[in-house]
Parts: sequence; structure tokens; C-alpha cells
Amino acid sequence: MSQTSRDRWATKTGLVLALAGNAIGIGNFLRFPGQAAANGGGAFMIPYFISLLVVGIPLMWAECAIGRYGGRFGHGHTAGMLHRLWPHPASKYIGVFGIFIPFTVALYYIPITSWCLAFSWFSLSGAYEGLATRAEIGDFLRAFQGWESNQYFAGRGPLYLFFALTLGLNLLVLSGGIARGIERFGKIALPALFGLAIVLVIRVLTLEPPPGAGPDQSVLSGLGFVWNPDLRLLSDWKVWVSAAGQVFFTTSVGWGIIHTYTSYLRPDDDVALTGLSSLSLNEFAEVVLGGTIAITASVVFFGVVATQNIVAGGTFDLGFQAMAVILQQLPFGNLLGGIWFLLLFFAGLTSAVAITQPAVALIQEGFGVTRNRAVALVGLAVLTLSVPALWWEGALAELDFWAGTLSLLVFGLAEAVIFAWIFGMERGWAEITRGAEIRVPGIVRPLLKYVTPPFLAAILLGFSFQSLGDELWREHWQIWAARALMLAIFVGLAVMVRVALQTRPGEEG
Ligand code: PHE
Repeated sequence: MSQTSRDRWATKTGLVLALAGNAIGIGNFLRFPGQAAANGGGAFMIPYFISLLVVGIPLMWAECAIGRYGGRFGHGHTAGMLHRLWPHPASKYIGVFGIFIPFTVALYYIPITSWCLAFSWFSLSGAYEGLATRAEIGDFLRAFQGWESNQYFAGRGPLYLFFALTLGLNLLVLSGGIARGIERFGKIALPALFGLAIVLVIRVLTLEPPPGAGPDQSVLSGLGFVWNPDLRLLSDWKVWVSAAGQVFFTTSVGWGIIHTYTSYLRPDDDVALTGLSSLSLNEFAEVVLGGTIAITASVVFFGVVATQNIVAGGTFDLGFQAMAVILQQLPFGNLLGGIWFLLLFFAGLTSAVAITQPAVALIQEGFGVTRNRAVALVGLAVLTLSVPALWWEGALAELDFWAGTLSLLVFGLAEAVIFAWIFGMERGWAEITRGAEIRVPGIVRPLLKYVTPPFLAAILLGFSFQSLGDELWREHWQIWAARALMLAIFVGLAVMVRVALQTRPGEEG
């Protein structure tokens, strides 16, 4: 595809909102408060901000620069882009990670997003009204997910219905293309998301403890739960690994998506201010809004100790079960629950759209397929491949571990090395600063070259020591099936990349 016929963003604000919409996801509202609370509270924020400064911001700028550079050659996926930075066969296959990660994560992220839509509807329509304990909501959730059958749901019909609806909306947005699809959607969804979140923050900060509450059940101790620093934990390297992991997860750095989005820029458009603005919006949504809503509500209603148990139980225990119980006890409870799950749905859908796009770009550009056909093909693939992800218990966590966590670190490290050392910081810096509407601090240059890669290598090693041993040996066939699926996806994408880049006119070697 020639440069002139390439899809483009219509406005700068539109791109910033789209990038922020991609970064602001379910992770901001559920994963972040849980991670912070479990890893030293306020003390967690020290490694968190250091990781943000050393990895998040520099890599965000590098990825924006790589994306815009690749877009100049008509590439919307990282396999083509990294190959332009480093014309060696290995770079294409490293670049496959930037398609593999988002596509594989989409297989469970889109279903989870659809659960949020379902729960928004269930709350508004009063479907779980009166289920007053977390255990009851838990039964309701598991029956809906089809992992248990009980009085609440007889089959998986509603599960598929909401999944189809969510996937359909996702594809509808993508079929509009960049400016008329993703950009237009972000301009509505992102302000809506902030509006809903602010309503909830205000409601949570004015919560009264229930009758008979203990002395620790207050808004203040809720905020303290997230923010009181336990400085002893700073010497625990696991806290550092968790903080860096959260920075990758939330900023969407290391996924291949920022590259894809910025590939639809013109060669002299700014990337410096764009990258920083969307990152700042994400941090506001995460630290201020996400850090306040769910945990504070839980501490006011259940107290500190119970909240600790809830957080340890994971994302769904807090966001789905605890929140569903809490919100329905308030005046206009069904409406508040509807707002909470709709917030998660909007956060999820703007991210879901983003993670589906790299595969669409590969098919569209690499095989000369029209956009609508490419979107339909990827939709079909998500539809068929997420069914096992929904059915095999444990598969979801498995995909999340390999694709949504470990691969991010691997890809982030590899692209940092390719950008700073092989492409070279001289040219890299020129790419970051060309057209820049802010002055990029000069310190970023040595940071990207000498600090980001070793820091990432250390985190990757730490993470591998911490988790790989426990993770590798599993007996359930579902786990191995999920691994086989991921391997097949990676190999399939690698073959597609090979063919796509070979047949591209003007692709040398
Ligand atoms: N940043 C998202 C979150 O916080 C996760 C995500 C990353 C989703 C990249 C899509 C793409 O939930």
C-alpha cells in the first residue's frame, strides 16, 4: 500500500484519546489497586514511579517513534517495523511478538470485557438483586460463565450472547478504520469513561460505614489501605518485579499496539507530546481514579482484614463479587452497579479494539485484503479460538501468564536493544524529537541506551526466577492445550509474516 492511501488519524486529540483509551483498561481499576495493596501500599508507588520513569516513559517514546517510522513504509505491525530498524531475518520474528501478544490477550480480554457488559445489564435489570454475600454473587458469576450449573443460569446462552455483542461492537468500530472507527469511538468512550469514574469516586468518598461497622471501616482507612507505605517491603525484589509488571500492563508498552496506532501518523507529526499526554491520562485514571474506587468501597463495607482476603482472591473477587454486593446496598444501587460495570466495559472495549488492530493490519497490508474482510477474518479467529479459552478452566490464567506477562518483558527488552543499540540512539533520538511539540529531556537518550535495557533484563530474570519454576510443571491437559494453542498462534503468525514481507514490493531481504 502506498503511503498516500494509508489510513490516518484525523486529529491530534483523537489520537491521544485513542492511545489513552487503549492504555486505560480494566487493569487500571482492578489490577492496580490490588497490586498496590498487596505490595506495600504507598511503598509500592516508589518502584512503580521509578519503573515508569526508567521504562514506561522512554519506551513509550521509542515505540511511538518506531511506529511512525514503520508507517512511513506502510507497516502497521511490529514485524515489518523492526525489520526496517534492523534488516536481519531475526528482527521479523522478534516483531511477531507485537502481533502475537495482543491477539492472544484478545482471546481472553474480549470475553472479560463482555462479562462487564453482562454485569452492567444484570445490575440495571436487578438480575442479582438480593444476593447479599460474595459467595452468592460468586455462584451467580460461575453459573453465568458456565463453570457451574445452579439455579441462576441453565446454560451458556447469556454468556455467548454478551460475548457476541461485545465482539460485534469491537469489529464494528474496527471496520470504520482509523479515523472513522477507532478515533470516533475513542472521542465518545473516553470522556464517558472519565465521567462514570468521577461519579463513582465521589460516591465512594462520601460512603457511610454500614451499621455496626468496626472502627477501621472508613473512607480514610480505605485510602490508607492503598497508600500507607510499608517501607520494609522496598528491599523485597518481588515488589520491584510486580511494580514493573504493572507499569507494562497499564501503559500498554511492550505490546506492539502503540506502534500500530502511531503508524497512522504522518512522518513529521509530533510523537513526543502525544505519547506523554496519553501516558499522563492513563496515570491519572490509574493512580487517582483506580486507586480510590474499589478498595475504598470494600474497606468501608467489609473492613481491612476482609479486604485483604478479597484482594488476595484476585481481580474478580474484588471487582465483580465484592463490588456487586456493596453497590446494591446503596440507594440507587442497581444504577450504581450498572455504572461501575459500564465503566469497566468502556475501559475494556477501548483496549479490546486496540489489541485486535495489529492482526487486522497484518492481514490487510500483508495480503492486500480489504479492511472489512481483514476485520471479519480476525473476528472469526477470535470467535473460534476464544471458545476454548472460555471453556478450559485455567486456560485464561495460562494465556495471561505467557502472553500477557512474560512476553511483554521479552518483547520490551528486545525492542529496546534493537532501537537503542542496533538502529542506534543517534537516529533513534532524531526520530523521537522530529516534529516534537515539547522538548524531550536529554536524559532520555542515555536512559534508553544504558538504563532501560539492563533494568528490563534484571526484571525479566527476577520474574523468571520467581514464577517460571512453579509455572512450568502442570498436569491438567487444559493447561497444555492452552500452551499448544499459543505455540500454534505464534508459528501461524510467523509464517504469515514471512509470506507477507516476502511478497511486499520494495521489501529488501
Ligand atoms: N492497559 C490495559 C489495562 O490496564 C491492558 C491492555 C494493554 C489492554 C494493552 C489492551 C492493550 O487494562
